[in-house]
Amino acid sequence: MARSRFEVDEDIRRAHTPAASLYCDAKVFEAQRKHVFPRTWHYLSHAAGLDEPGSARAVTLLPGCLDEPLLLVRDAQSDLHCLSNVCTHRGNLIVDGEWNLESLRCGYHGRRFHLDGTFAFMPGFEEAEKFPSEKDYLPRIPIAAWRGLMFASLAPAVGADDVVSRV
Ligand code: FES
Repeated sequence: MARSRFEVDEDIRRAHTPAASLYCDAKVFEAQRKHVFPRTWHYLSHAAGLDEPGSARAVTLLPGCLDEPLLLVRDAQSDLHCLSNVCTHRGNLIVDGEWNLESLRCGYHGRRFHLDGTFAFMPGFEEAEKFPSEKDYLPRIPIAAWRGLMFASLAPAVGADDVVSRV
C-alpha cells in the first residue's frame, strides 16, 4: 500500500490544501480504491421502477473505480435487496439490464437463486455433499434510500444513518 501522510489539524485556522499527490498519484488512488471506497457510501441508482415484486436492475457500484457488479431486486414480500450480481459457482454475471423476474438464474450452468439471494437449485449437484451452504448464497450489500436515490457500501465503516438523513 502506498504510504502518504496527510495531516489534518483539528483547528480549522491552521488548515491548508492537501498535497497534489492526494488527487494525482496513482498509488494513492489505488490505496484509496482498496481501503477507503469499499468502506464508504456511494450513489448506486434511482429507486424508480423497482416497486413491483420481481423487479430487478443490474447496476455497477462506482464505475471506473470499484466496478462492483450488483443487483437491486424486490422479492415477493416487497423487500428490496442489493445482491452481488456474480454467480457463486464460477463468477458469471447473473442479470444484465432491467427485468421482472420470479427467480434469478445464471445463464452459464443454470444455478438458481431466490430473489433474496438465497440458493434455490443447481443442476447436477443433487448428490453433492454439504451443499448448498451459505457460501452459495449471493452476498447481500447494505443499501440506504434517500429521496428516491439508492446508496450502497460494500463494507460500511459507518451506518447509513450517519451519512443520509432519511426523509
Ligand atoms: S457460473 Fe453460474 S452456474 Fe456456473
